[in-house]
Amino acid sequence: MATITALRAMEILDSRGRPTVQSTCTLASGASGTVQVPSGASTGAAEALELRDGDPRRYGGLGVRKAVGHVAGELRFALAGQSFNSQEDLDRRLIALDGTANKSRLVANAVLAVSLSYARACAAEAGVPLYRHLAAAFGMEVPQRLPRPTINLFSGGKHAGGQVSIQDVLVVPLAARTMDEAMATTYAVFQAAAKQTKDRFGMRTLVADEGGLAPDFDSPEAMIAAGVEAITGAGFTPGVDVALAVDVASSHFFIEGTYHPGGAPVDAEGMVERVASWASAYPVISIEDGLAEDDWAHWPMLRERLQGKTLVLGDDFLTTNPERIRRAIRERCANALLLKVNQIGTLTEAAEANTLARAAGWAVTVSARSGETEDDWLADLAVAWGGDQIKIGSITRSERLAKYNRLLEIEAETGWPLAPWPTLT
Ligand code: PGA
Ligand code: ZN
Repeated sequence: MATITALRAMEILDSRGRPTVQSTCTLASGASGTVQVPSGASTGAAEALELRDGDPRRYGGLGVRKAVGHVAGELRFALAGQSFNSQEDLDRRLIALDGTANKSRLVANAVLAVSLSYARACAAEAGVPLYRHLAAAFGMEVPQRLPRPTINLFSGGKHAGGQVSIQDVLVVPLAARTMDEAMATTYAVFQAAAKQTKDRFGMRTLVADEGGLAPDFDSPEAMIAAGVEAITGAGFTPGVDVALAVDVASSHFFIEGTYHPGGAPVDAEGMVERVASWASAYPVISIEDGLAEDDWAHWPMLRERLQGKTLVLGDDFLTTNPERIRRAIRERCANALLLKVNQIGTLTEAAEANTLARAAGWAVTVSARSGETEDDWLADLAVAWGGDQIKIGSITRSERLAKYNRLLEIEAETGWPLAPWPTLT
């Protein structure tokens, strides 16, 4: 039982220099927790509502003073002085106070700030690391393994200049047994990729929102092939030491029923074939949003086609939403969940999404957003909830490194190995 005595919030800036919410929750014991919430750019239509002020004279309308006002105003008035039995008790109260299906009244960036800062305050009160508290708060044991990182190497789509249709090609350090080995492997591959990019494109390539290299590849296949070359260039065996993951983010090039992946536009069947060809021609073992978020009719075909070869991962498609996940399980649409807490708005609903996915035998990739902060709670959450993978971005931006470094810290503290790559179903 914990009693909230104060809730504060302020507007801070994220890794893109855009405003986001920071909130501090103080408990009667004097313990307090401060968190910063992230923000997406390649967002799913079914995500909980992130409120922006819309005042064009300030941050181009992207200010979050209204969301901050919800924390410091209505939420503080309703919650300060109240006691809660558990995280779920607080989150259910937040959901009831908001009263909408998608957090559109008190808004996801305010509600999540409260849900998370309460968790951090409770961890401080209990004197335990956040990863221990986040497991205990939901009646779970920490599974004593660390999520395997999948690290952004090349970026396209909405996170870069739109030069390639697909959003990310990620490095999967498959043979690494520890976080330390995974980071050293990734560094070598990233350096090889940076050198090859410089040689090929004749310039020092700039990096995209999540720190991935963003040269002007002329097709998704060229981007994936460059990933394979970087693995080889670093002296590793593709598919054995290091594999690749792809975030297709295909909702963003799905226009009026047609996919535009580069080259001739294709229908859903054509898109499934294109994606399947990547899985056979390259060491690609995870494919995210291979089809558009509302193309429910064709996701079962995608899963069937990739069966046993890659994870069929839903991000914009599932939006960490228990309802959508239930339907996707029923209709055999996917076999892996990309979990982003701010897509749904409270820890409790995100935990439910995680539990549903696990019970269906799916893998879970815990993910950051493209607009991130120096906060590292995501690393603790991924460890606490037994994420098979974690997707944070590249190793060249400090808002990403905050989480990688936190995982290294947890590794040093616990000695836990990396989770094995899940058996593909
Ligand atoms: P977002 O994208 O954070 O910009 O929504 C990340 C992703 O698609 O995985
Ligand atoms: Zn995605």
